[in-house]
Amino acid sequence: MDGGLDSVSSYRAFRVHRSEQGSLARSIEELDDRDLPAGELLVEVHYSSLNFKDALSATGHPGVTRHFPHTPGIDAAGVVIESETSSVQLGEEVIAIGFDLGMNTPGGFGQRVRIPSHWAVPRPADLSLEESMALGTAGFTAAACLDKLEVQGMRPSDGPVLVTGATGGVGSVAVGLLSGLGYEVYASTGKPEQSDYLRRLGASRVLDRNELADDSGRPLGRETWAGCVDTVGGSTLASAIKSLRYGGSVACCGLVGGTSVSTSVFPFLLRHVNLLGVDSAEMPEGEKKRIWNRLADEWRVGGVEMITRSLRLEGLSEAIDQILAGRMVGRRLIDLRSS
Ligand SMILES: NC(=O)c1ccc[n+]([C@@H]2O[C@H](COP(=O)([O-])OP(=O)(O)OC[C@H]3O[C@@H](n4cnc5c(N)ncnc54)[C@H](OP(=O)(O)O)[C@@H]3O)[C@@H](O)[C@H]2O)c1
Repeated sequence: MDGGLDSVSSYRAFRVHRSEQGSLARSIEELDDRDLPAGELLVEVHYSSLNFKDALSATGHPGVTRHFPHTPGIDAAGVVIESETSSVQLGEEVIAIGFDLGMNTPGGFGQRVRIPSHWAVPRPADLSLEESMALGTAGFTAAACLDKLEVQGMRPSDGPVLVTGATGGVGSVAVGLLSGLGYEVYASTGKPEQSDYLRRLGASRVLDRNELADDSGRPLGRETWAGCVDTVGGSTLASAIKSLRYGGSVACCGLVGGTSVSTSVFPFLLRHVNLLGVDSAEMPEGEKKRIWNRLADEWRVGGVEMITRSLRLEGLSEAIDQILAGRMVGRRLIDLRSS
């Protein structure tokens, strides 16, 4: 399935240019791998995937990308074709997500990346490159959230778990992962027309995102959730915190609905709840390896094919606009072998 590209130094990439006036333009270009930055590994990228952060990069969000022209793509999976370190062999299949990849280092929306060796983890035996990128940073982050919730002691018998932004990339994988492990999953969405999709992924109940809105001003809500994977932030996160059951936890990983959170201390003082931060980008290599191995094994997510659509580089621009508008459902795999 993961055959090689011809070993030529030119490759194709989805690029973003910024004019002197600050306007941005996207194009697909032929590049030369001699233009890539220095790094221990040259990787022939077979697959990448689209994440919310890529859309921020492609639209010049200064917290993500400052230098243009730029090749976004925070995810890349492929084969090592040059290695300056004995720890990674030529021909090894690797997965690289996060760190500076696709931010200010040319990323996975090009058929080649050159990266430091600690950005790459070996592909787990039971996860193909294609499967790893169907999950991508979004799926990895859903797993990292569950990993942290479990460390706090969350178990399926504790009660319902809320997933917010449920039709998005992180949300969809979180719903599939949790339900596959026997959790009762409540999926919150702004797309009620996608209820069937969420139920097929395993959600027990689908909530309209407005049902979570809480403008009562009360410091505590009804004890409802044993845990929560929150991709939204803002008032959604605040409302999840005050509705946790005694000792419950929220894994906070996203900001699509806002970056400020207003909460009193009462849920923490009276209900012993936990607010857990999750970052997939700078997570050390050993931790990344551990989470990927869980995803390849005991946490294999069912239904990934159902949530994933494959695109070539040509389809990226439209998908970026879709994710920015909050209209994305599931995941987009980028197939660079056929691009
Ligand atoms: N911490 C980390 O390491 C990490 C890693 C990956 C992603 N993230 C973050 O996680 C978030 C989700 O990423 P993603 O890749 O899953 O993005 P995505 O595919 O675009 O999904 C986001 C989903 O959030 C919901 N949403 C969109 N706009 C909203 C709004 N204004 N208010 C409430 N809900 C809204 C939508 O789902 P519904 O219509 O179903 O509600 C949307 O599909 C992003 O903020 C991203 O930056 C963080």
